[in-house]
Amino acid sequence: MPTLLHLDSSPLESSISRELTREFVKTWKAAHPDGAVIERDLVAHPPALIDAIWVGSVHTPESARTSEQAAALAISDQLIAELETADEYILGVAMHNFSVPSVLKLWIDQIARHGRTFTYDESGAEGLLKGKKATIVIASGGVYEVGTPAGAMNFVEPYLKAVLGFLGITDVKFVTASGASQVMRGTIDRATFLQPVLEQLRTVAA
Ligand SMILES: Cc1cc2nc3c(=O)[nH]c(=O)nc-3n(C[C@H](O)[C@H](O)[C@H](O)COP(=O)(O)O)c2cc1C
Repeated sequence: MPTLLHLDSSPLESSISRELTREFVKTWKAAHPDGAVIERDLVAHPPALIDAIWVGSVHTPESARTSEQAAALAISDQLIAELETADEYILGVAMHNFSVPSVLKLWIDQIARHGRTFTYDESGAEGLLKGKKATIVIASGGVYEVGTPAGAMNFVEPYLKAVLGFLGITDVKFVTASGASQVMRGTIDRATFLQPVLEQLRTVAA
């Protein structure tokens, strides 16, 4: 059964990235009537901070872990299982302070695990989440054109590309809704702003 992981990271009810990922899911469901969707709302259920017990636990063989160590990895195990089960991912990302929302960073810290999602040998690192397809929707107040001074401040897309690639996810499409501050200022209405991005997403999801 084709499976989609739908993840959101914006804290806002009126979130642009959430509206866009919802549209992706709707189109994807229509194209995959037999498909399943795993919902992962990082704001409703923020992943835990990684702490000393967590770090000690990942460096302890599974059979030797204490119950406290096993408990510390439970959410990590669940989030990784979602990535392994799904064939495709749709991730909604709000730009916060030129980077990803802190809940998304918490998620990344929980899913990047040696021996589970990446490994190292003499030839270097190897990502273990192979054959997956990801679409990342990024909403930002400003516009970050590559090659401009503003573009150099966009750490969202390069960071996500690097970290997902490190985990083996290399088939990644970025869809951007930049300049959302125009909607807040009322210089463009929300529907007009969203329309080209919604169309782009419908094409990618179908
Ligand atoms: C805490 C916070 C930090 C933000 N930082 C930036 C930023 O660094 N650059 C930017 O262009 N917009 C920034 N914005 C604006 C958001 O990127 C914009 O509102 C976007 O629509 C957020 O996505 P969302 O609507 O899905 O929440 C910030 C908004 C918030 C709430």
